[in-house]
Amino acid sequence: MSNLYLTPEHVLQGGYHHAALRKLQEPNTSIEPHNIMYPVFLIEKDNAIEPVHSMPNVNRYGVDQLIPLLAELVEKGLKSILIFGIVETLPKDPTGTSADSVDNPVIKALPKLRAAFPDLLIACDVCLCPYTSHGHCGLLKSGGGIDHEASVKRIAEVALAYAKAGAHVVAPSDMMDNRIKAIKEELVRNKLQNQVSILSYSCKFASSMYGPFRDTMKSSPMEGDRKCYQLPPGSAALAARAAARDVAEGADFLMVKPGLPYLDIVRQTKDRFPHHPLFIYQVSGEYELISRSGDRASMQTNLMEILTCMRRAGADCIITYFAPLILSIISEKK
Ligand code: PBG
Ligand code: ZN
Repeated sequence: MSNLYLTPEHVLQGGYHHAALRKLQEPNTSIEPHNIMYPVFLIEKDNAIEPVHSMPNVNRYGVDQLIPLLAELVEKGLKSILIFGIVETLPKDPTGTSADSVDNPVIKALPKLRAAFPDLLIACDVCLCPYTSHGHCGLLKSGGGIDHEASVKRIAEVALAYAKAGAHVVAPSDMMDNRIKAIKEELVRNKLQNQVSILSYSCKFASSMYGPFRDTMKSSPMEGDRKCYQLPPGSAALAARAAARDVAEGADFLMVKPGLPYLDIVRQTKDRFPHHPLFIYQVSGEYELISRSGDRASMQTNLMEILTCMRRAGADCIITYFAPLILSIISEKK
């Protein structure tokens, strides 16, 4: 008996009619605490909390305020953070001296954070833009334009300073060519290579979705833009070459940034480098977009669906300002 509208061999629904079956049909897409990394903004004033106007529910913290916040989150399962230092009274100069000075908020906070949270993985963003007078991620030649050699040397110096101060992971976001090799060599020279890893912002695009972050960090370039070092949004080829280069230079982990519009790059990178854990940075502009995507309940549903799709595309860990909310959502579900 054949029926035009029911061909038994084409029935798929039998395979996902039950929640337990649906779970089997979505392998490696669960969202657990180790799949989430929380970016935190650290300011100089130890006791201050300052709201970030461009990002609802995001604050900038002095270390003494950050510790109680993290204590709560660690209790809820938080496994890792990514620290961004912000300076307001320390000087900004052409070489970004404050990035690794003894007064830098990240350098000062690391020992305290390590002591307060023995099990928390602490990654530090490494870049010069929050500390340079010109606001670029590298150093400039006297006539303008990036001084490649000087930039890489300086980035490696800063990475080493964070490593020595207690970072478990250094995460260079500057996009200067060859920085991974320079950092790895610096770690080896200082016998830190087996206790500090490198999370490369390997596939970081020149996106317009970094706006709210740059407001927060006061890190916009004074002149020009970042198109000469961040990747052109349409180029999957450069992303592939950048990831391959960073793997060859010794990156432990790779990243695609931003996330949602770049899930093809996530899949491409995971397929080419299945043995390197892959991170997505869900950036400030994505945060803004999702935050405004409906009432609280639908926003949360949208968020969890997007995270699931990021995992499906090949992300192992998602760096997200939604980390506190996500931890609440997944702990309620249990
Ligand atoms: C700076 C840096 C940026 C972000 C992380 N590190 C901005 C930029 O490159 O212009 C973006 C993060 C976000 O938008 O959430 N090196
Ligand atoms: Zn930068």
